[in-house]
Amino acid sequence: MLVTKDIYYVGVNDHQLDLFEGQYEVPLGMAYNSYVIVDEKIAIMDTVDINFTEEWLKNVKEVLEGKEPTYLIVHHVEPDHSASIQKILETYPNLTVVCSQQASNLINQFYPSLKDCKKEIVKDGDCLSLGTHELTFYTAPMVHWPEVMMSYEKTSKVLFSADAFGKFGANDVEDPEGWTCEARRYYFGIVGKFGIQVQAILKKLANLEIEYICSLHGPILHESVQDCVKLYQTWSSYEAEEEEGIFIAYASIYGHTKEAALLLQKELEAQGYTNVKISDLAREDIYECVENAFRYSTLVLASVTYNGGLFPIMKEFIDHLLSRDYKKRKIAFIENGSWGPMAYKTMKTMFENSKEITYIEPVITIKSSLTEENQNQIKELATSLKNTSI
Ligand code: FEO
Repeated sequence: MLVTKDIYYVGVNDHQLDLFEGQYEVPLGMAYNSYVIVDEKIAIMDTVDINFTEEWLKNVKEVLEGKEPTYLIVHHVEPDHSASIQKILETYPNLTVVCSQQASNLINQFYPSLKDCKKEIVKDGDCLSLGTHELTFYTAPMVHWPEVMMSYEKTSKVLFSADAFGKFGANDVEDPEGWTCEARRYYFGIVGKFGIQVQAILKKLANLEIEYICSLHGPILHESVQDCVKLYQTWSSYEAEEEEGIFIAYASIYGHTKEAALLLQKELEAQGYTNVKISDLAREDIYECVENAFRYSTLVLASVTYNGGLFPIMKEFIDHLLSRDYKKRKIAFIENGSWGPMAYKTMKTMFENSKEITYIEPVITIKSSLTEENQNQIKELATSLKNTSI
């Protein structure tokens, strides 16, 4: 498939994968993207996962039509992109691997047999001419590993963005939700912790005229480039995408905490506040919940007490948020505890090092089942949330 003149897509789609990176559900599969630039010198951009080496190689050979490639550009060494390096070097032994110094070190660690392969180490700002096309390299440490670099091809105005701007989902099935939803889940799941580093690379790229973004996952972006870059600006600066949105995440055992969460949603709606998303943490994909916690400006956590502390799935959820530097949000709490409620105290303590968090009151304590007083408190909380969210 042609991306633009002389730049070909040679990636593959994975519909066998149960969990991407061992943890992320991918109901629509996953794409491992790779590209070929055909010029006086031919460059192959990255490889693919080990289970798709042969299919990918076939795609590459079809584009090459018997010609010899000169370079293999390695933007990222994570094995979903590097596992077929060995095979391509066996097929084309004269290939020079172009990568960062850190990428070279990682290649040697992952694939010791490649220690002596021909490599050209590039640094930030270095250029590589292929003939008509010229690549400029931009290091992008921690987006998503330290060795990552992107490259910009100025003739066609194409950015090869490594993992950035990727999404879950194979490219041969239509995502009914478009790019944003699974790109957001991907971003916050995988790169969310590295907002500062994402901001740094966005700044480096700010003056480039980008017409195409060729990520290592998901579709090639063209008409939506500006919108996607804008979303990356928002996500990486930890600003809420939905300033007036509320996400209620609950963990319930016998349904009373759930009842409180649902009542809060109903009260908000009764007060005309409809931008509310609610999730049962135990039954929804946890990374969908992580995504929503970052998407909305306000988070309501409703949890039962468990073993003198917090119910495990709520603890896991908050841990996911904290490990991704959750900040700049409003938080409200509902706890339940039949004899020694501890959920609120535990949750609040977990956020003590988080920056720019505003707590919304009242904190609601349920003892087993909702009392009339609890119902009134929920009404009061709905009003506070509404007043602080618009
Ligand atoms: Fe798609 Fe960080 O590997």
